[in-house]
Amino acid sequence: MWTLQSLYPELGVNSIMLASMASGITTSIILETILLKRGADQLSWTMATRTAMGMSMVSMIAMEIVENAVDYHLTGGLVAFGDPKFWLAAVLSIGAGFLAPLPYNYARLRNPSKDIPDLSGQSIFITGGTGGLGAGTALELSKHNPAHIYISGRNAKNAEKIIAEIEKSNKSTRVTFVECDLSSLSAVQNAADHFLAQTPPPRLDTLICNAGIMNRPQETSKEGYEIQFATNHLGHALLIRKLLPLLEKTASEGKDGRIVVLSSLAWQMHPLGGIQFDRLRSGQSFPILGPWQRYGQTKLANLLYARELAKRYPHLTCVSVYPGIVTTNLFDYMSFKNKVMLYGCFWWFMVRPEKGVQNQLWAATTPKKELSNGSFYNPVGKNGDSGLMRCAKDSKGVHAKRLWEWTEDALKGY
Ligand SMILES: NC(=O)c1ccc[n+]([C@@H]2O[C@H](COP(=O)([O-])OP(=O)(O)OC[C@H]3O[C@@H](n4cnc5c(N)ncnc54)[C@H](OP(=O)(O)O)[C@@H]3O)[C@@H](O)[C@H]2O)c1
Repeated sequence: MWTLQSLYPELGVNSIMLASMASGITTSIILETILLKRGADQLSWTMATRTAMGMSMVSMIAMEIVENAVDYHLTGGLVAFGDPKFWLAAVLSIGAGFLAPLPYNYARLRNPSKDIPDLSGQSIFITGGTGGLGAGTALELSKHNPAHIYISGRNAKNAEKIIAEIEKSNKSTRVTFVECDLSSLSAVQNAADHFLAQTPPPRLDTLICNAGIMNRPQETSKEGYEIQFATNHLGHALLIRKLLPLLEKTASEGKDGRIVVLSSLAWQMHPLGGIQFDRLRSGQSFPILGPWQRYGQTKLANLLYARELAKRYPHLTCVSVYPGIVTTNLFDYMSFKNKVMLYGCFWWFMVRPEKGVQNQLWAATTPKKELSNGSFYNPVGKNGDSGLMRCAKDSKGVHAKRLWEWTEDALKGY
């Protein structure tokens, strides 16, 4: 602006302000696009440009208008490098420009749902939609007009509350509770068969495998599997297998059939050597940190299974996500000692469910081309594959293949 003011004062206030605003906004969008592409986010060029424009447009326009207006008001458009008042005006105008977009940026950060596209016509199935992250995901997605949301779980009362809450604000989306105890293969089979038998046959665009339990004492499921493995992995694997034809049908129509699986950074707590395949049909005792090791094993399975699904069904999109450490009911069943350990180590990093749902919302709704099929994502939308080690990295795919084959064997007959 100063260059134009000094060299071409005859252009007048309005033209100089417009030209300097245009160049300021363009430069900022270019720089942000490069940062989003080359920095930690590693977005594609299209997505980086779109995100930079979304982030910048309104705030940059506000910033430039206020900055230029304050500067002009104080200096009258005269450039006088030798006058201290000129520099004071420069500092004040930069400060005012910095403050101007803050309310907008704050409102935007508080409302990430603006990034979710319209979901008209889509049908979404969320396991564990009766509480915590699953319920939060259902509520958020319902604001974007999907045709149908199915929430599954065991607690019908909680389901009713979630459905009533959604119906209060959105009458056009149908919400249905699918009662399904994921820890029992026969219960999953019944629930899936019942779901598939609907007339007209259901459609499915996105399956979010979100339900989970954590840090449980030694216990086995109805069919004799370690209870966390049965719930977090095996039940989901059967449900996925039953619902795959629906997702494949959606993909065959040129749409996006997508599976999002909830994993965790706790995959790192898996037992030495990875999943203990030969001990999964037991309560699995470990000399130390048993509940954590058993949970870590399930979250490793979630991550590997999503990757193997992507490999075997490349026409579908299958990713796993880590939501962050979120204050939900997941910690309710932990012993006092484990709660002290968890809150003591991670209190600082804990986030509320409204923020905790963002990664799975992103994974469920971002355009297909923004996702690397089979990848593991940290919040929000950050590809975490490069941070994986050992069994989770599984560069030759041995562990994932073994998990797939073990799972197929366990699901025989269902
Ligand atoms: N919260 C975190 O910090 C965190 C961190 C990393 C990963 N995760 C993952 O995020 C996912 C969601 O956890 P959350 O934090 O939302 O936990 P949550 O508040 O405890 O909710 C768990 C959900 O899973 C369902 N569920 C539990 N056992 C089930 C079973 N046997 N059959 C069917 N549904 C069952 C529950 O529904 P019903 O009671 O109705 O059955 C509930 O809707 C889990 O997979 C968890 O591993 C969470």
